[in-house]
Amino acid sequence: MSIGVFDSGVGGLSVHRALVNRLPSADFIYLGDQANAPYGGKSGEEIVDLTRAGCIRLFDEGASLIVLACNTASAIALRRLQQTWLPAYRKQLGRPVNVLGIIVPTIEAATGLPWEHEAERRGDKVEKVDILAVFATRATVASRVYEIEIDKRRQDVAVFSEACPGLAQMIEDGAGAVELATTIEGHVRALTTRIGRGPDRAILGCTHYELVADIFRAALPTGTPIIHQPVATADAIERYLARHPEYEPGNRGLRRFLTTGEPGAQNALVEAFWGGPLSFEAA
Ligand code: DGL
Repeated sequence: MSIGVFDSGVGGLSVHRALVNRLPSADFIYLGDQANAPYGGKSGEEIVDLTRAGCIRLFDEGASLIVLACNTASAIALRRLQQTWLPAYRKQLGRPVNVLGIIVPTIEAATGLPWEHEAERRGDKVEKVDILAVFATRATVASRVYEIEIDKRRQDVAVFSEACPGLAQMIEDGAGAVELATTIEGHVRALTTRIGRGPDRAILGCTHYELVADIFRAALPTGTPIIHQPVATADAIERYLARHPEYEPGNRGLRRFLTTGEPGAQNALVEAFWGGPLSFEAA
C-alpha cells in the first residue's frame, strides 16, 4: 500500500516533498491532473468529477490514503466525495481507504487551535487585530472556506483573500522570474490597497504558489510570516497515520510520479524547486 498525493498539476509537489521528508520510508504515488489543469477557474461539478477520477486512479495504483494536495479540490470537492462517494467506494474496494485535504491542517496552523475547536460566540464586539492574507485560486476564494472556518474559531483574525487567476497556469508553464514577480507584486499591491495596510500574516492558499514562495516573500512587506501548508499538512498526516494504522503507507521508499498530461521532464521552474530533474510517467 502507499500514500497517494493528488493535485491538478505540479503544485502538490510542495506538499509531497514535505510528506516525504516526514515519512521517508513510506511509499508515495503522485498524480498531477495536468491534462485538466488549472482547476481554479472550473465549475464546482467539474472539480468534483476530476478529483473523484484522480482518487480512483490513485486507489487503483494501491494508495490507501490520498492527500488532496490542492486547495481547490480540498475546498470544493473533498466534503462531497467523503459524504457521497467514498463510503460506497470503500466497500467496493474491500479495504481501508481514505481521502484527506490540506485546508484543515492549514486552518489549524493559522488559528493555533485544533479543528474540533469552535469558539463560543459571546456576542461581544471583537476588535479584529490580526490580518491574515490568503492568496488562492478563483474557486478557492469564491468558496470563502478560509474566511468561514477561521471566523468560527478566531474572531480576532480578519481574513482578506486575493484570487490570483492565471498564476497556477504560469507556474505549470514555467514562466520566468520577472513575469512571475510582476504578477505576484500586483496581487500583493491590490490586497494591501484593499486592506489599507500590509497583512500581519499570509497563507499561500494554492499549492502551486509554494513553488514561488520566495517571490511572494519578496513582494510582501518585509518579515511578513507565511503559513506554509506543506509543513502543516505533513504534521497532520503524520499524526493521522499514528492514530490510524489501518491506512498502510508502505515501507519501501517508493516514489512514482504520474500525470494525465504529457509525460516526461517538468519545466525549469519545477526543477529549480525540486533541486534536480523530475520526470512524470503517463497515468
Ligand atoms: N494547486 C491547486 C490549489 O492548491 C490548484 C491550482 C489550479 O489548478 O488552479 O488550489
